[in-house]
Order: sequence, then structure tokens, then C-alpha cells
Amino acid sequence: MQAAVEEFTGPEGESDGLGPVFNAAGCGECHVANPVLGATSQITESRAGLFQNGVFTDHPGGSLIHSRTLPDYIKFQERVNPSRANVIAIRNTISVLGDGFVEAIDSNTLVSIVNVQPSAQRGQLVNVPVLEQPGQNRIGRFGHKAQQASLLSFSADAYVNEMGITSPMQPVEPTSNGVVVTPDPVPGNDDEGVDVALFALFMRSTKAPPLDTAIASSADAQRGSQLFDANGCAVCHTRTVPATASCRTAAPRRGTRSGPPRSGACGRAAGSCTTTSASASKTRSLATGTRVLWRAMRSTG
Ligand code: HEC
Ligand code: HEC
Repeated sequence: MQAAVEEFTGPEGESDGLGPVFNAAGCGECHVANPVLGATSQITESRAGLFQNGVFTDHPGGSLIHSRTLPDYIKFQERVNPSRANVIAIRNTISVLGDGFVEAIDSNTLVSIVNVQPSAQRGQLVNVPVLEQPGQNRIGRFGHKAQQASLLSFSADAYVNEMGITSPMQPVEPTSNGVVVTPDPVPGNDDEGVDVALFALFMRSTKAPPLDTAIASSADAQRGSQLFDANGCAVCHTRTVPATASCRTAAPRRGTRSGPPRSGACGRAAGSCTTTSASASKTRSLATGTRVLWRAMRSTG
């Protein structure tokens, strides 16, 4: 677990495969240890693309606009080309605490949540590939667009997209606005996916932040809780979701330092939870995943 914490914290350097284009040198630069490692921060990322005739096209090189390069690669700094983007969206860092519980939710549970939602608020379920199980799909639940279904998949995705470090599940380096960056000093070094497994282990081992029972029992919070139901918030932010035993724990191969996660994500109630949810439009580019509120609202009961 210590190895997982160190790996998630970072920083990685050029010799570890960082860059040449990247956003930060470690997961912990954005998911900072404030108050505990894996939480959120004020750090945002930019996504850009062209929305024309109802169709969204990613900015060249992908919608993510990397904010940094290695020192010798400044000419590869990504920029938004105004003729290729009329949408620039800022995305805030999302806390990963308790995400093992979200991962453990059975896809069928998400289907049954959506099935009982009123049609005007019905969530859109997005099936996405599970990278560690080639050929398998699962209902997405992580990221702004619920674009990943497992923490292992998300880790490989984040490693290459945020830090420019490739791994077996994500072997292709990010480009600079679509231009391949050469020469790459160290073309990624997580060849066996050990780091990616450690990220997933770290996230699966975190607990959901607890309810502040003192605040939750106050008259105002009780009233807020009633309003939460009365106003339909709980239609999407489902209050309780049974977690199933379907979660898998990655077993990082790193000698004696690795071990099983201490707080298992299986078999415990998940608190409020994620479903994918449609906004007014049903197009894929606008659908946004419902957030768990244990990150944001400490007094929901
Ligand atoms: C530059 C800042 C930054 C870095 C570095 C970063 N993240 Fe994130 N992370 C974000 C942002 C922003 C989001 C929201 C993503 C979105 O909009 O889809 C996010 C979302 C996530 C989520 C989804 C959480 C949820 O519940 O939906 C996971 C999991 C995650 N990051 C893991 C990682 C891991 C693992 C690393 C390191 C390999 C990492 N992140 C590095 C900024 C960062
Ligand atoms: C139709 C589904 C739906 C309903 C109803 C709904 N939400 Fe949400 N909620 C979402 C989605 C989707 C997001 C993520 C939005 C985004 O990332 O842009 C969200 C995000 C949030 C967040 C931000 C969480 C974070 O981690 O940043 C809060 C707080 C929140 N909702 C509270 C409420 C409250 C209070 C109500 C009732 C008044 C409510 N929601 C009703 C779908 C819904």
C-alpha cells in the first residue's frame, strides 16, 4: 500500500517517461492530499472542439488540451486553434475517494435505477470498453462523461493523458495538436502496467468520506434532506445502492511491498451513487455522469 501511495503521489520525471506533452507530474498534483490523498483541488483541465450542425468534433489531437511540455519541447506546447474550436470546457478535478464503491456497483443496478426514473429525467447509460478485459463492455461510471467503467482502465487513461506515460492498455503517446512529438526522450516506461495497477489499488483502498452526524442531525440538515427528496434530487443522486462482490482487486507485481487493499470495496452499501444521466440533449457529447455527493455535501443523510 505504501508503494501505491508513493506512486499515486508522484512526481514522475523525464526518465520515468513523463511527457513530452503532459498536464502534471503525478496524480497527486491534482487529486491532492488535502485533506487526504485522492481528494479534489482547484486544478482544472481544458477540453476543446467544434460543435457544428449538431455534431461535436474533437480538437486536432483530441479534446484534451495539455497545459505543459518538458523544458526542451516548448515548441510542442498545445494551443487551441480558434478555427477548430468553438467550445472550450473547463473540467474540475474530481475526488477519487470511495471510487471503489462506485466501481463495485453492478451494471444491472444502474439499469434498474434508470428504469424507475421519470422519463423527463431518465439517465443515459453509456457502455464503454473495459480495457483490462478486451472485448468486454461495462456501463461507464467514472469521469465527466462516465467514459470509463473500471479504475484500472481509468488509471491507464489518466497516466497517458495527464502525464504522457504509456502502459500496455494505453500504448500510444499523446500528440501535440495532432502532431507526433519526436524524438520522445523516454517513450513511456510502465511496460508491465505495474504503476497503473498501483493507482487502482490506491483508489480502491480509499473510503467514502463519512457523514458528519452532528451536522446531519441538525434541524436545517433534516429539512434539507426532506427537500432533497421532495425536489427530486434523489432521482439521480440515488440515496443508497447495494455494492456487489463483482469488484476485482488488482494484484500489482512488485515483490513483497504489494498487498491486498485493506478496505475492500465489496459488500458494503455505497451511499449515494453514480448513474449516467442525460442533460436536456441526448447527444453523447452533452451527457454528463451524475456525481456522488459524499464528496460535495457532507450532511446528506
Ligand atoms: C492535471 C490534473 C490531473 C492529474 C495529473 C490527474 N487527474 Fe484524475 N482527474 C482530473 C480531472 C480534471 C478529472 C475529471 C475528468 C473528466 O472531466 O472526465 C479527473 C478524474 C479522475 C477520475 C474519475 C473520478 C470519478 O469518480 O469519476 C479518476 C479515477 C482519476 N481522475 C484518476 C487519476 C489517476 C490515477 C491519475 C494519475 C495517473 C490522475 N487521475 C491524474 C485531473 C487530474
Ligand atoms: C437529472 C439528474 C439530476 C438531478 C435531478 C439532480 N442532479 Fe445533481 N448532478 C447531476 C449531474 C449529471 C451532475 C454532474 C454535473 C457536471 O459534472 O457538470 C450533478 C452534480 C451535482 C453536484 C456537484 C457534485 C460535485 O462533486 O461537484 C451537486 C452538489 C448536486 N449535483 C446536487 C444536486 C441537488 C441538491 C439536486 C436537487 C436540487 C440535484 N443535484 C439534482 C444530476 C442530477
